[in-house]
Amino acid sequence: MTTNRRIVVSAVRTMELREEPTPTPAPGEVRVRSSYIGVCGSDTHAFHGRHPFIPIPYLPGHEATGVVEEIAEDVTTVSVGDRVVVEPTLPCWQCKPCRNGNENLCENLQFFGCGYPQGGMADQFVIRADRLHHIPDDIGDLDAALIEPLSTPVHAGRLAGPLDGRSVAVLGAGTIGLLMLAVARWSGAARVVVTDPLPAKREAALRLGADAVVDAMAPDVSAQVRDALGESADVVFDCVAVKSTTLAAIDMALKGGTVVVVGVPAADFELPIRIMQDQQIRVQGSATYVPQDYATAIEMIRSRAVRAEDFITGQFHLDQAEQAFDASVSGDHIKVLIHP
Ligand SMILES: NC(=O)c1ccc[n+]([C@@H]2O[C@H](COP(=O)([O-])OP(=O)(O)OC[C@H]3O[C@@H](n4cnc5c(N)ncnc54)[C@H](O)[C@@H]3O)[C@@H](O)[C@H]2O)c1
Ligand SMILES: [Zn+2]
Ligand SMILES: [Zn+2]
Repeated sequence: MTTNRRIVVSAVRTMELREEPTPTPAPGEVRVRSSYIGVCGSDTHAFHGRHPFIPIPYLPGHEATGVVEEIAEDVTTVSVGDRVVVEPTLPCWQCKPCRNGNENLCENLQFFGCGYPQGGMADQFVIRADRLHHIPDDIGDLDAALIEPLSTPVHAGRLAGPLDGRSVAVLGAGTIGLLMLAVARWSGAARVVVTDPLPAKREAALRLGADAVVDAMAPDVSAQVRDALGESADVVFDCVAVKSTTLAAIDMALKGGTVVVVGVPAADFELPIRIMQDQQIRVQGSATYVPQDYATAIEMIRSRAVRAEDFITGQFHLDQAEQAFDASVSGDHIKVLIHP
């Protein structure tokens, strides 16, 4: 029997490279050989025991791409040799959101690589065939690793409504914020201002097309963003979602603007509901993506609006996964990949 190497987070801040039998696809599933797997904030949070929904032990890796190696007999949508990217949501297809095309909101949602009995940080993994998208031939393997992360900002941008000609603020210039900037630019936003406390992140935002950047730690951050936009923000993408950023976002959006909550808040906090009513502020949550967003992300990458050379700053082998996780949280990287 052939063996498969897999990263297992066995305890808080403890990672093992385990050998296991190569998994066999059950009906409806395929076996994929990994090409590149992204390290995401949710992976590192869970590794440090700080993720609210991922219990340890867990098998990380939801930003997974690879090549199909084996398919169950009943699978017709992909073939052996196809290059694929995983859409890691695992919908039930029975509940109301699933029936209405909102399977990202499935009432019974499971998530590949996030507290599910399979993850992508392995030589090979099995997954339902309906969770795979084909990677077009003209998208390279490194660029393809950005399809899943980019799909989150694409979804958020779509929920915000048309961005063409709009004044946009993006709070937080991490991977998601910088990809959000790319989505705003690609969608024709008139002006985009980005905030972050870290100078290197602000520089990255300027390099990637922000009109201006603002130090998120400035006491008058929302006034500075308004100045830099020349007006209030039509849309603010809060890619951090702590109390100070969401309150600043509402302040920037006065009056009549939209705040999209893209960051995953670690705790609840109070919002100024009287101001939100009186000044017609829309606060819009945004959770992952649906296939339409993958299609747009693929189109953006094909058109070179998002390029691996701008976003992928670190690559590590499977046996260096812990170094990859450390690099990912160091503040020096945009997107770190694991390459078995
Ligand atoms: N909605 C979704 O479906 C979805 C999907 C993926 C990730 N996320 C969430 O999006 C958020 C961002 O993810 P990421 O991968 O870019 O994380 P990241 O850690 O790479 O980036 C966060 C950035 O925010 C900056 N920051 C910290 N405090 C700030 C402040 N007060 N104001 C402005 N910037 C500040 C940091 O310096 C960093 O550059 C996380 O909360 C993540 O969990 C949401
Ligand atoms: Zn992720
Ligand atoms: Zn469902």
